[in-house]
Amino acid sequence: MLWIPIDRSSDISLIRQVYQQIRERILNGELQFGEKLPSTRELSSELKVSRNVILEAYDQLLAEGFLVSRRGSGTFVAEGTYLEQNKMATTLYSLNWGEDKNKCDTIIDFRSGIPALDLFPRKTWAKLSHTIWNETSPSMFGYDIPEGRLELREVLSRYLLKTRGVFCHPEQIVITSGAVQALTLVSKLLLSSGDEVIMEDPITNDIQTIFKSSGASLYPIPVDNNGINTSLLPLNKNPKFIFLTPSHQFPLGGTLPIQRRIQLINYSRKLDCYLVEDDYDSEFRYEGPPVSSLQGLEPERVLYIGSFSKILSPALRMGYLILPPALFEKCRRLKWLSDLHTPSLDQLILAQFIAEGYLERHIMKMKKIYKKRRDFLIHQLESIFSNKINIFGYSTGLHLIVEFDRFPFTKEAFEEIQRLGVKVYPVEDHTIEKGKHDNRIILGYGHLTKEEIREGVSRLHRAISCI
Ligand SMILES: Cc1ncc(COP(=O)(O)O)c(C=O)c1O
Repeated sequence: MLWIPIDRSSDISLIRQVYQQIRERILNGELQFGEKLPSTRELSSELKVSRNVILEAYDQLLAEGFLVSRRGSGTFVAEGTYLEQNKMATTLYSLNWGEDKNKCDTIIDFRSGIPALDLFPRKTWAKLSHTIWNETSPSMFGYDIPEGRLELREVLSRYLLKTRGVFCHPEQIVITSGAVQALTLVSKLLLSSGDEVIMEDPITNDIQTIFKSSGASLYPIPVDNNGINTSLLPLNKNPKFIFLTPSHQFPLGGTLPIQRRIQLINYSRKLDCYLVEDDYDSEFRYEGPPVSSLQGLEPERVLYIGSFSKILSPALRMGYLILPPALFEKCRRLKWLSDLHTPSLDQLILAQFIAEGYLERHIMKMKKIYKKRRDFLIHQLESIFSNKINIFGYSTGLHLIVEFDRFPFTKEAFEEIQRLGVKVYPVEDHTIEKGKHDNRIILGYGHLTKEEIREGVSRLHRAISCI
């Protein structure tokens, strides 16, 4: 007899449960072509459900072609209904999502670039959303223009001029789904197979992947404590652009001084190539005055990328790309090809959030909180590891770098650290030329409380003492 476990407390109807389980067994070959199914009367009495439940489940399977019925002799599995289980499905089933969740609860994760998610300004966002969703005109619920809502682009151009020294007209801005989409658009806009990009090294691994996916090769320039080392720029190259994180180098944390900025601009003029500036989190600058953008020095040669992932939340998927006018129309078409446009109502909420001054107030509030977390992390690291470490790259953003004295972080070392309940990240993951940063780790702290930071550093110390 066919045994089908029935869950009477489930939200899924009994018919659906019977249907799904038989369907699955046919697809994975447990029930094979030609096999006879029990009669509806037999199965209903076996499973203690009404005969109608079985009749409807069988009808559905007959209609979809999984079963055939032969008058007078019963219901059988139809031919051609076995589907070999592919690897992806097996991997998905073998991943234990529940267990993973529990692990995350106990592991202290120093992942970089995660803001304090519990401090998202929910009430204000909800209030603005409520008004916009209720009061906006019906036309807002239709398709929109690829470059994004003018309300947001206007407020953004004013905000960026005031806070980051970015010079642009709203007509140069394309609203994107986070910085990642802006980077993908840049890649499609400027790169083809065989092209070369000059990159900071180390630099976010995902960004390397995006540019390489257009068939480009990466020419690495080492980064020091002040960002890209401009004295190493090659003269015999023909790059499409130079990619930079000048306000806050990722991951090493330096800020590019004006002399190097000027050298870069002169270099790009000479080679007639673009500069791509990724300004992903420099609003959180704790030491000294805010640094102005590179874009403000050479607006017609710099493509400027920004994001709301760190200052608000990565879940919003909201970012922007500012282009020299000559590139705008092509980029607009690429954005249209990619996803038509970023959700219009979310753009309106964000525009209102900035226009009414909430964004600046939120940044001011979070800066104080993040500074306290950063100072506490530095204090914990110094008091536990004393002179065995060197901490740097902490003047801006949501992470810092710890360099250990003669301690190479091997794969085994990271596994041991994680086994003791703390997760830290190798700088080496983001290098183009391997082997130069293997005693350095990245510690993100924006999302961690003081208690988590204290416990995390103590676990890290225990793990390193054991290795
Ligand atoms: C340097 C850099 N730029 C951009 C991003 C991506 O940001 P977004 O969430 O806006 O796509 C990241 C992600 O952390 C990053 O490290």
